[in-house]
Amino acid sequence: MTDKRTVFVKTYGCQMNVYDSDRMTDALVPAGYVSTDSIETADLVLLNTCHIREKAAEKVYSELGRIRLLKEERARSGRETLVAVAGCVAQAEGAEIAARAPVVDLVVGPQTYHRLPELIARARNGERVVETELATEEKFEALPAPARERTRARGVTAFLTVQEGCDKFCAFCVVPYTRGAEVSRPVDRIVAEAERLAGAGVREVTLLGQNVNAYHGEGPDGSAWNLARLVARLAEVPGLDRLRYTTSHPRDMDDDLIAAHRDLPQLMPYLHLPVQSGSDRILAAMNRKHTAADYLRLIERIRAARPDIALSGDFIVGFPGETDADFDATLKLVDEVGYLSAFTFKYSPRPGTPAAGRREQVPDAVMTERLDRLQALVNAHTRAFNQRTVGLTVPVLFEKPGRRPGQLSGRSPWLQAVHVSGDPALIGRIVDVTITAVGTNSLAGEIAGEANSRTGIAS
Ligand code: 5AD
Ligand code: SF4
Repeated sequence: MTDKRTVFVKTYGCQMNVYDSDRMTDALVPAGYVSTDSIETADLVLLNTCHIREKAAEKVYSELGRIRLLKEERARSGRETLVAVAGCVAQAEGAEIAARAPVVDLVVGPQTYHRLPELIARARNGERVVETELATEEKFEALPAPARERTRARGVTAFLTVQEGCDKFCAFCVVPYTRGAEVSRPVDRIVAEAERLAGAGVREVTLLGQNVNAYHGEGPDGSAWNLARLVARLAEVPGLDRLRYTTSHPRDMDDDLIAAHRDLPQLMPYLHLPVQSGSDRILAAMNRKHTAADYLRLIERIRAARPDIALSGDFIVGFPGETDADFDATLKLVDEVGYLSAFTFKYSPRPGTPAAGRREQVPDAVMTERLDRLQALVNAHTRAFNQRTVGLTVPVLFEKPGRRPGQLSGRSPWLQAVHVSGDPALIGRIVDVTITAVGTNSLAGEIAGEANSRTGIAS
């Protein structure tokens, strides 16, 4: 191999981008790149971008402004810096990025990451490369699987992409345009990746997909498997004690998946199930394909299967045409569900999506006021949920040392961060912890003993 070069990767947005960034770093190893944490000394700066809201894209452009100065500084001492933009901004804006930010040498969309070494080589030869071809099914399998030693360094939890793209076309959302149509990975590839992860010490895997519960990958028998079947198969992988999946659409929450929450102890009692709004009028305008009542009935069925399940959601305030009454319906739904957590966003028009062109855009001041009220309500539910766990003894998977010396940091089955005093040798183990107090962003607890069942809630 010739000279070693360094790559600095900055990741914006969702967990799938985190996963993709790792895969891109792995893909660059054969091309002679090692990763660095220092942007100042990097030979290749790669921004893995998010286009979901306007702010996310704007952050990328201001970062590119700073990178331009770095690149000029390095050029003065005779060092070359390659700048690449990947992710959904790359996909959506393509050549526009190169025009708006001349510092960029390479623009690469999410479906072409497997060709990264070749594209980088072309950019190093002075070509300005823009590669945003969509819908190449080969991507998944052409990318290298997570390297074992890098996985080990990543710790006891990992993401695993099982599905990509979305066919739902919510009226506000760019994902169907930037990530393309739904594609599911075959079961055997996922199982092989999960086995490698478990072999490297990973205890908890979160299955990723933009519309993960629409999963319909080819099973070993040639038939299409749904997510419930995939999860049941992964539950058999030795060492994988905890499974999660995100993000789901209410329409794809089928009976099998609900039953899996009842039957599989490895499947954690936590579900991210965005509803976006509590108003039927707005849900219809959003093209969500369900009503508030449909959603609430669904939650009831899920809770019947797994009574202790914690729910989280996404909400958009100020979708075009949203009135005070529509917004009140959202507040009401939040109260009815009692979320453990929720992500709340102001609507931001994304070019090319149906909602962006609508009249009746809601003024920013109104959105700000609604966002504050919604956030306050969600926070109250979060506090109430956390408070209810005080006094319980729950299995906690320890992930890493805490911030304070002698402290360990882990997660409850409900994904709450838990801090205890304990031996670092417990990292990677599931241990019963009695929750003693609620902090701002985490729970405090005391070790009660190693969980006797691998996954069950201690009595
Ligand atoms: N404006 C505001 N929020 C959005 N989201 C997606 N698109 C937009 C948009 N145009 C939110 C949704 C989605 C989450 C990932 O981001 O709530 O579930
Ligand atoms: Fe976007 Fe999710 Fe709707 Fe798909 S289901 S269009 S990813 S918000």
